[in-house]
Amino acid sequence: MTESNTVTYEIENAVATITLNRPHKRNAMSPMLHIEMTEVLEKLRYEKTSRVIVITGAGNSFCAGMDLKQFFVELQDNPPEFDRIFRLATDWRYRTLRYYPKPVIAMINGYCFGGAFSIVEGSDLAFAAKEATFGLSEINFKHYPGGSVSKSLANIMRPREAMFYAMTGRPFNGERAAEIGFVNAAYPLADLKKEVMAIAQEIAAKDPDALTACKEGYRYSLEMTSDAAINYAAAKSDQLTLRQNGSWRDEGIGDFLQGKYRPGLGGHEKASS
Ligand code: ACO
Repeated sequence: MTESNTVTYEIENAVATITLNRPHKRNAMSPMLHIEMTEVLEKLRYEKTSRVIVITGAGNSFCAGMDLKQFFVELQDNPPEFDRIFRLATDWRYRTLRYYPKPVIAMINGYCFGGAFSIVEGSDLAFAAKEATFGLSEINFKHYPGGSVSKSLANIMRPREAMFYAMTGRPFNGERAAEIGFVNAAYPLADLKKEVMAIAQEIAAKDPDALTACKEGYRYSLEMTSDAAINYAAAKSDQLTLRQNGSWRDEGIGDFLQGKYRPGLGGHEKASS
């Protein structure tokens, strides 16, 4: 594992853009990429200047899935190392992104295959280039959506589409991905970054503690009974009050009651002081 800089990031206007950076391999996820992505996500977790994360790929690809050579072939005789990388690989996509304290947006700029579906699903929002190519290509090489991918499909796709694309391995484009709800929307590639950054900026202007509560309230509720979820929501609201020092009530509701803004039509950032 001699390669490095398989993942890079830059922060601009409160948005951290993380780039999968193996364009010569269509950003296939090598063991080193999983290690470096785990490190980068840890570094940005409580970093103060970034409030929203965008994940994208270098060159003409978002991510061509697992590195088939370095992961499935080269590690086949090394079960402990295979297991270590497998755990890192699944953890950052299905757990870290899902429960990350900052909103995560996948920006799919090109090829998106197999294991990359778990990046898209683990992210809170996803936007694709219309020209992007998606595919559950596993069946095409006599395998199936393993690792975290089958669970990702079960979480986010309707059953008919999940089984159709998993069993045929047929590629589909960004427009189709939006049509079936796998991504929020698709834009021409030339506009993708501008559109996604505008959405990221809009979200970055919201209260960061409220955004974390948004994610946690939704994500954990999915795993609870209704009674437990409602009880959890009440406790979460108290936690939010503590984290914000009561500002949702004092400023958020308070400024509305003073006629400074209308929450139904825009955020508190529009309240004049
Ligand atoms: N694993 C390892 N290497 C890959 C992968 C991958 N998933 N995808 C591309 N590469 C490598 C190629 O081997 C090639 O390497 P080389 O230049 O050293 O020969 C290089 O990236 C460029 O690939 P090409 O096939 O030449 O590029 P092209 O633009 O023509 O096609 C495409 C891109 C469509 C992504 C093609 O490479 C492909 O089908 N890749 C496999 C996609 C796939 O099935 N991914 C696995 C999903 S299953 C899972 O994630 C568990």
